[in-house]
Amino acid sequence: MSASNIWISDLTHYYNKKQKSPTLDNINLSIPKGQLTALIGRSGCGKSTLLQMMAGLLFPSDGAVRINGQTIVKPSAKWNMMFQKPSLYPWMTVRENAALGLVFAGTYKEKADRVEELLDMVGLKEHKDKNVQQLSGGQQQRVALARSLATEPEILLLDEPFSALDAFTRTALQTEVAQICHDQNITMVLVTHDIEEAVAMADKVIIMSHNPGKIVGEKDIPLHYPRDRSSKDFATLKEELFAEFEKIDLEKQRELEAMAS
Ligand SMILES: Nc1ncnc2c1ncn2[C@@H]1O[C@H](COP(=O)(O)OP(=O)(O)O)[C@@H](O)[C@H]1O
Ligand SMILES: [Mg+2]
Repeated sequence: MSASNIWISDLTHYYNKKQKSPTLDNINLSIPKGQLTALIGRSGCGKSTLLQMMAGLLFPSDGAVRINGQTIVKPSAKWNMMFQKPSLYPWMTVRENAALGLVFAGTYKEKADRVEELLDMVGLKEHKDKNVQQLSGGQQQRVALARSLATEPEILLLDEPFSALDAFTRTALQTEVAQICHDQNITMVLVTHDIEEAVAMADKVIIMSHNPGKIVGEKDIPLHYPRDRSSKDFATLKEELFAEFEKIDLEKQRELEAMAS
């Protein structure tokens, strides 16, 4: 347990007491520091709920989430979350938005250079003084990424952050974010329903089933970064993951049919 960065034990969650089956059912998960994990599953299986619990934004009915051995009681600057929408302040510039985390932490004065470096790194060098409304969706998500990284988080929690982007931008950002987390030893947890995204970014994929939301499988992705999506190994892993998913769906279908008859 000491080696794990995020440690989830016997976690069960009901949003309300009238639910017949829990939203999350007896989740156990141990994520070592620096591992890139993808949580995949159908819409509604509880991925976002679980991620919000890792962020300290929501608390389980039962069981615990620990980070570095400590039960989470509130959000922290040590971990940052990125969502599908970049949630930027429209009246602020790119630089001001990227600096927000540091401003809130009261450390912007000392760390202003870091914001400049990060904006350069995510390809926004020429856009720092622009209002964020002048940027494309992909560029806005890059601002959110720079903001998330500025506070030097130990953990980056991503909730389908690329799903609203066009395919080219999405692919580029997936590659960049995985590389950054890998290089900087950031523990990443990515929620997605996109199998290719999981294979492109994660060291380990955790497969969830729905109703109740539970972990039903896992798969290692032993490919080095940056990943070559046109390689045979990539295609094979993608196919295997897809097959695993279909098998789980079929089992679920049978289970539901058996309950109905
Ligand atoms: N605040 C909430 N109150 C009640 N039910 C919720 C709430 N948020 C999500 N749910 C329900 O919990 C289940 C899991 O939701 P969610 O974690 O958002 O799934 P996912 O991210 O995998 O799509 C869904 O059935 C959803 O309707
Ligand atoms: Mg979700």
